[in-house]
Amino acid sequence: MATIDLTSASPARAKGDVVVVGVLQTPRGIRLADGAGPVDEAYGGRLRATLKTLGATGTPGQVVKLPSAGSVAAGVILGVGLGRGPVDAERLRRAAGEAVRASAGSPTVVLALPAATSEELAAVAEGALLGSYAFLGYRNSSAANHPKPVRTLTVVGGAARTKAARQAVSRARVVARSVHLARDLVNTPPADMYPAQFAEAATKACRGLALEVDILDERALRRGRFGGILGVGQGSAHPPRLVRIAYRHPRAQRHLALVGKGITFDSGGLSLKPPKAMEWMKADMGGAAAVLAAMAAIVRLKPPVNVTGWMPLAENMPSGTAQRPSDVITAYGGKTIEVLNTDAEGRLVLADAIVRAGEEDPDVIVDAATLTGAQLVALGSRTSGIMANDDALRSRIHELAGSVGEQMWPMPLPPELRASMDSSVADIANLGDRYGGMLVAGLFLAEFVPDGTAWAHLDIAGPAFNEGEPFGYTPKGGTGAAVRTLVALAEDQASRSR
Ligand code: BES
Ligand code: MN
Ligand code: ZN
Repeated sequence: MATIDLTSASPARAKGDVVVVGVLQTPRGIRLADGAGPVDEAYGGRLRATLKTLGATGTPGQVVKLPSAGSVAAGVILGVGLGRGPVDAERLRRAAGEAVRASAGSPTVVLALPAATSEELAAVAEGALLGSYAFLGYRNSSAANHPKPVRTLTVVGGAARTKAARQAVSRARVVARSVHLARDLVNTPPADMYPAQFAEAATKACRGLALEVDILDERALRRGRFGGILGVGQGSAHPPRLVRIAYRHPRAQRHLALVGKGITFDSGGLSLKPPKAMEWMKADMGGAAAVLAAMAAIVRLKPPVNVTGWMPLAENMPSGTAQRPSDVITAYGGKTIEVLNTDAEGRLVLADAIVRAGEEDPDVIVDAATLTGAQLVALGSRTSGIMANDDALRSRIHELAGSVGEQMWPMPLPPELRASMDSSVADIANLGDRYGGMLVAGLFLAEFVPDGTAWAHLDIAGPAFNEGEPFGYTPKGGTGAAVRTLVALAEDQASRSR
């Protein structure tokens, strides 16, 4: 990850290849945002007019570059659109991310965006770090085609010297590092990310941190009767795992359990997907990646709460040993499930993990899963669905997601849809009404939550990976969706007493 520092020195003299200023939309054109003053002065007071000549409109995310011609220390001045004021934290994150992505190829970037408070400084820092991400492990091609990501970031702001600013920026660093980890895990090709490799990556990510890591291999899963994870994994040559990561704080009052769907590749199994639908199915462990990454951030931030992360991992493949439509499996804890469609596999591994998580008596269980194509139909590719058995928890997660800049929206669990999963042979079928498919999947999971435990389900099917062009601080491919919300949730739980 790029390094990031704060300064209250003048951005006109700051060493760097690019200096970034904000451009605001006004009714009559554009205006330079706070923070740009010293750069404009050095540029002879002609920066606004020059940006305007070059077509700057202040539209959120628009980038206009111009040579500084020796006026400031950096060789390039970059104007990034901030839209119409007021500029909130997410606008700052996105603009910073956009500017840093557009600066790829330049090693050092100075950000002189409107950041007066420590929260604003942290937003710029987080957006810049998230925008500096690149996944380069599998490329040989020349640097010209793939400019190197920015290595060194400097954020300019008046509050830079305060302790609050330093703390806020170090939190941003921790969170961004975890988001990068989740993106890397999702982007890694599925033949290098079998369940065993994911478990190894989890061990590696937790090394040196105050986390306890437990891995159940196939034998242990069999001994423990984890029928959902085993059923999904039985068609693959690469056996399943269940990873448990525990974070404990001596002053914790509450216990949060996080559960992440970890299908390392979802072919659909015998209910095989068509080729197009399989292209991104290496991202079907996005929920597990988010949980692992959140755990790595939480242990560094040390909120006074206990958090246990659960990652049920399996590869969903068709073969002579694969489960068949109409097979009945017994989930951990004893409920039987008729598998009518082997492509509805996420709910099977989650059933096991949710029941197991519930045995430790957490106050709250939250799962994150790339669970349904219906999520994309209902909410589009950038907004996750929040379902819950507890109205207050659902609302709280919605608020927290908004505050960290993740798009999520509350969705219902209409009880009348449950009957569509009645099975003629088992306790429940893994398939129900096609209409409201995201909600049906949520209702299925609800059956495995212990009575009386608050639970929420995040369907991140679309948001976990970006099939389209990069935008703001979001790259193509793995996005790290839900990491920031899960971290915020742990901090929020820490601030509550029982
Ligand atoms: N992993 C998929 C859901 C998905 C689809 C994620 C598209 C990201 C993009 C999940 O396992 C799945 O296949 N769900 C089925 C369920 C259906 C068979 C009830 C679906 O959504 O089609
Ligand atoms: Mn599937
Ligand atoms: Zn899946």
